[in-house]
Amino acid sequence: MSTPHVVVVMGVAGTGKTTIGPLLAARLGVPYAEGDDFHPQANIAKMSAGTPLDDDDRWPWLDAIGAWAHERAGLGGVVSCSALKRSYRDRLRAEAPGVVFVHLTGDRALIEDRMTHRQGHFMPTALLDSQFATLQSLGADEAGVAVDVAGSPEEITERAAKALDELPRSDS
Ligand SMILES: Nc1ncnc2c1ncn2[C@@H]1O[C@H](COP(=O)(O)OP(=O)(O)O)[C@@H](O)[C@H]1O
Ligand SMILES: [Mg+2]
Repeated sequence: MSTPHVVVVMGVAGTGKTTIGPLLAARLGVPYAEGDDFHPQANIAKMSAGTPLDDDDRWPWLDAIGAWAHERAGLGGVVSCSALKRSYRDRLRAEAPGVVFVHLTGDRALIEDRMTHRQGHFMPTALLDSQFATLQSLGADEAGVAVDVAGSPEEITERAAKALDELPRSDS
């Protein structure tokens, strides 16, 4: 058997990380961790107030996610994390060099519509603009795949699993 991937499901808010992450983990037979759960309380309070996080807020969050990914190296796992900037992904890779990214991408109108219908979540729709402004898509030298979020969660999960199958494996 080949080494299972440690996957970071990334993308802007509302793109389906929390929905697809557990489905992809189940499909791969590995544990799932919700990236939002790694935020310090201060970050949640800030986002609830509609204030975008700054990078100093994000480093401890990214380090905690990276530590989880590192623990799963060689075993496999899926964790959600918006990971919008290259520098955030570099920070994750510093902890867990073998991680691969699944970038959930999609039409802005579709994502906004899905966010508008989401209940009980701390991320107001107004933050979507700053999310798109911040987003840096995966570079050609970054291990990962972009997956379109049109269609049902099951379809997206299957699309992601197939794309991951094409990627080289890493033990690190
Ligand atoms: N493929 C899909 N089809 C329909 N609704 C979806 C789909 N993926 C996600 N959603 C819905 O869109 C909203 C945002 O998805 P979510 O997984 O919370 O995004 P994220 O974790 O990236 O912010 C949720 O209400 C979710 O139920
Ligand atoms: Mg989420």
